[in-house]
Amino acid sequence: MKAWRFGFLCLVMLNAAVRYVTSLERDLTDSIFGILLDPVKDLFEQKHDANETVVRFSLRRPSHPEDDLCYIFPGQTDSLAACAFNSTAKTFLIIHGWTLSGMFESWVAKLVSALYERELLANVIVVDWLRTAQNHYVVAAQNTKAVGQEVACFIDWIEETTNIPLDNLHLIGYSLGAHVAGFAGSHATNKVGRITGLDPAGPDFEGKHAHWRLSPDDAGFVDVLHTFTRGSLGLSIGIQQPVGHVDIYPNGGSFQPGCNLRGALEKIADFGIFAISDAVKCEHERSIHLFIDSMLNEQEAPKAYRCSSSDRFDRGMCLGCRKSRCNTVGYDISKVRKARNVQMYTKTRASMPFRVYHYQLKIHFSSKVNRSEMEPSLTVSLFGTKGEADNVQLKLKEKIATNRTHSFLLVTEKNIGELLMLKFKWEESNGWSASSMFKMVSSWWSGDTDGANMEVHKIRIRAGETQQKVVFCIKDPDSSNLTRELTFVKCKDAWRTNTKRTSKRITLEAH
Ligand SMILES: *[C@@H]1O[C@H](CO)[C@@H](O)[C@H](O)[C@H]1NC(C)=O
Ligand SMILES: *[C@@H]1O[C@H](CO)[C@@H](O)[C@H](O)[C@H]1NC(C)=O
Ligand SMILES: *[C@@H]1O[C@H](CO)[C@@H](O)[C@H](O)[C@H]1NC(C)=O
Ligand SMILES: *[C@@H]1O[C@H](CO)[C@@H](O)[C@H](O)[C@H]1NC(C)=O
Ligand SMILES: *[C@@H]1O[C@H](CO)[C@@H](O)[C@H](O)[C@H]1NC(C)=O
Repeated sequence: MKAWRFGFLCLVMLNAAVRYVTSLERDLTDSIFGILLDPVKDLFEQKHDANETVVRFSLRRPSHPEDDLCYIFPGQTDSLAACAFNSTAKTFLIIHGWTLSGMFESWVAKLVSALYERELLANVIVVDWLRTAQNHYVVAAQNTKAVGQEVACFIDWIEETTNIPLDNLHLIGYSLGAHVAGFAGSHATNKVGRITGLDPAGPDFEGKHAHWRLSPDDAGFVDVLHTFTRGSLGLSIGIQQPVGHVDIYPNGGSFQPGCNLRGALEKIADFGIFAISDAVKCEHERSIHLFIDSMLNEQEAPKAYRCSSSDRFDRGMCLGCRKSRCNTVGYDISKVRKARNVQMYTKTRASMPFRVYHYQLKIHFSSKVNRSEMEPSLTVSLFGTKGEADNVQLKLKEKIATNRTHSFLLVTEKNIGELLMLKFKWEESNGWSASSMFKMVSSWWSGDTDGANMEVHKIRIRAGETQQKVVFCIKDPDSSNLTRELTFVKCKDAWRTNTKRTSKRITLEAH
């Protein structure tokens, strides 16, 4: 009975997945959500043992991060000594999420290792609620409260028995486990130090009252990473709303680089249904790997910046650090507690180390004649004391208008040091042909004073990671050489330079 249902579910998912392989990645993902979650809701019934929770606490060893060698049993004081629990060290509780397989996923051991890497003497305890988590999603979600209460009892008992200061207790919950951590925090007698929510689950928690999900009330400090918040049919695998003191949305909280859904789906076509979890999980699980990265690459933890929206962040407008507007992603985050949730953004690389370097470029485009709005292709190369970043395409979030300052976000994967020089290229695409987006036509530079010329006098840059601010001026203002690329160097005297003389005109074909 149960077997055919599972088989049918797999078939539905597999067929649908393969059917969509050729569509766009965005559509793909959206389809998978619905496909993955809806039949699960419809096809499974509540299990008889739905209200049974079995929670186990395994104190892992640095030498055996993947093995459960010693369980601590609440109420059995000798189990603490038997597992060599150190009551003066930090204690971490790792709480997993929903599971189809009923087994720990490979990230658990990686997270254990990373924690021991940073805190060798710590107690890293894996909370095992696999039996309850391996259930109809909705049932597992409903049980997070009961599981959280059991974890709270464990916390109360361990605090009473060992007198550990709860400031030394850090719960790390992934997906449904983040809400388990929330319930554990809110039911524990005293407040636990910190809860880290790694892409807390969305379905059944989004929009719920703070009592019914992870919230800032659950611990002294609650920090959250959101990596898979794309919605479909009113469902998003990761919760979209902020639920902590600080909520960080890497890459806007969706479309994590390196999580190639198309590739994953092709794998499903080749390797069958067991690959589907990879497809969906890459972005959801990215939250864990960002956290692991922050422990393993302590010196290179990414920075996140407070911003009112992902869109403003993508225009480079939020790279300031004053008044704790920026923070460190992951383990070393600063505990800032504001009255309201703080939402922060960052970009990342596709793999570890995830850190990138953020820059805001402010460019004023001026012309005597009112040009119709343009969508040129803008390319920048940055040169610094430690290296260079060549030909980075600036993402246009809007069309370029005459006599307006536009702001752009530029990221580099490597640290190029202090900025020294910049090269800037403008190529205009032909706005008339359908396939014109990437076709560059008629672009040239000229010192000519024709009224249709678009001019760029200066480029202002703010570096997020160093907070360095630089104004760049054209290197060779009098050259009338028809080069395609303009070189800008640090202005000698940024504010008193004659803009007329230092301007370089970019001649564009008037439409
Ligand atoms: C589930 O809860 C109901 C009522 O609360 C109880 O009668 C039943 O025995 C429980 N089932 C299990 C498996 O514990
Ligand atoms: C317990 O942890 C504390 C603090 O981290 C450390 O100083 C101490 O050496 C540890 N004790 C043992 C037996 O490892
Ligand atoms: C743009 O600004 C410049 C300098 O302020 C001015 O001379 C020019 O007329 C303006 N162009 C338009 C189209 O308004
Ligand atoms: C330039 O054109 C825009 C719309 O295309 C218009 O809003 C603006 O007022 C115009 N400016 C001048 C100086 O003509
Ligand atoms: C223009 O600049 C390029 C490269 O900077 C150079 O090779 C070329 O000779 C120059 N042309 C003229 C007419 O000066």
